Amino acid sequence: MTGEPAEPLTVLGIETSCDETAAAVVRRGADGAPEILAETLLSQIEDHRPYEGVVPEIAARAHLDHLDGLIGRAMAATGLGFGDLDGVAATAGPGLIGGVMVGATMAKAIAAAAGKPFLAVNHLEGHALSASLTGPVDFPFLLLLVSGGHCQLLLVRGVGRYRRLGTTVDDAVGEAFDKVAKLLDLGYPGGPAIESAAAGAKDPARFALPRPMRGRPGCDFSFSGLKTAVYNRLRALEADPAPADAADMAAAFQEAVADVLIERTRNGLSMIQEEEPALRRLVVAGGVAANRRLRYAFEHLCAEEKLTLFVPPQRHCTDNAAMIAWAGVERLALGLTSPLDFAPRPRWPLDSLDGTAGDASSGNAA
Ligand code: KG4
Ligand code: ZN
Repeated sequence: MTGEPAEPLTVLGIETSCDETAAAVVRRGADGAPEILAETLLSQIEDHRPYEGVVPEIAARAHLDHLDGLIGRAMAATGLGFGDLDGVAATAGPGLIGGVMVGATMAKAIAAAAGKPFLAVNHLEGHALSASLTGPVDFPFLLLLVSGGHCQLLLVRGVGRYRRLGTTVDDAVGEAFDKVAKLLDLGYPGGPAIESAAAGAKDPARFALPRPMRGRPGCDFSFSGLKTAVYNRLRALEADPAPADAADMAAAFQEAVADVLIERTRNGLSMIQEEEPALRRLVVAGGVAANRRLRYAFEHLCAEEKLTLFVPPQRHCTDNAAMIAWAGVERLALGLTSPLDFAPRPRWPLDSLDGTAGDASSGNAA
């Protein structure tokens, strides 16, 4: 975020919490603007494809095999040595614990060897701040975080200052995309597969699907009933879905998700109306925000509600290390460094972070 002139800060970021191994070096200039000096990423999609989902042990081993090479390439592209960095950040949770341990341990080792601060970054905070890699996003803002593991609406007041307004009571939205894609035999990962199948739909209105939670107060989400409705409609077809059925169903599912996300976001906005009457910014982040149909729906909502919409470019919606490095920069600027005995954690709610404390590690275990 921009502000008074500040010391430039350069941070190496590491991301290993799911099936992407990634490293990036991001600098915050004196004007407060981020510059991505280097970014490397290796997707493990091919390793997991035969299993139609992420296998944690395979993921952890692949991170271990590739992380040092990816860091080496990112550092070489910058022409900097570890000694030139101001800090080393890594996702320390939430996520698949084997992978998180690989990334966090690597970051601690580099930080210790180079005598630099270590920054334990909450992966969700990486997504939350990812939109500001492209341009300034002032606080406060409403955040819809939609990924493979999460679906939450949060009021973001600053770095480390989050209030959760609503969350999913069952599946995450990306998980629903992945499961429905599996039912439709569209392959893995499901989100992009559903999006491209839906684009070929002949009759997107052919299957009427429910809009779970619509009309309920608050802004929690539910997606498992939607997935079951898809399953039941497919069974009623009494054969494996033909490509035309799959395309129509993918479109119907995507429309249902769009409707639900928009309606719950509207509720989130009214929940914070009293507290933050001037708030006019919506950030949509996480892997599912890569979906063009959903982006279009949010553009429409924001035009109607006179909000400014911020959605990161696609490569920064899905998991990446630039967002982790940037969250590391932001934390470092506030003095929120972490001790080397910081324990990686599979669960770590975003609203348990305390940006006002001097230490990001202080007992935030989930
Ligand atoms: O943020 P992310 O890369 O990893 C997590 O932190 O979970 O999100 C991955 C999720 C997957 O469920 C994937 O199917 C979904 O994001 N996704 C999409 C699209 N691209 C990725 N969902 C819908 N449409 C897309 N184009
Ligand atoms: Zn993610």
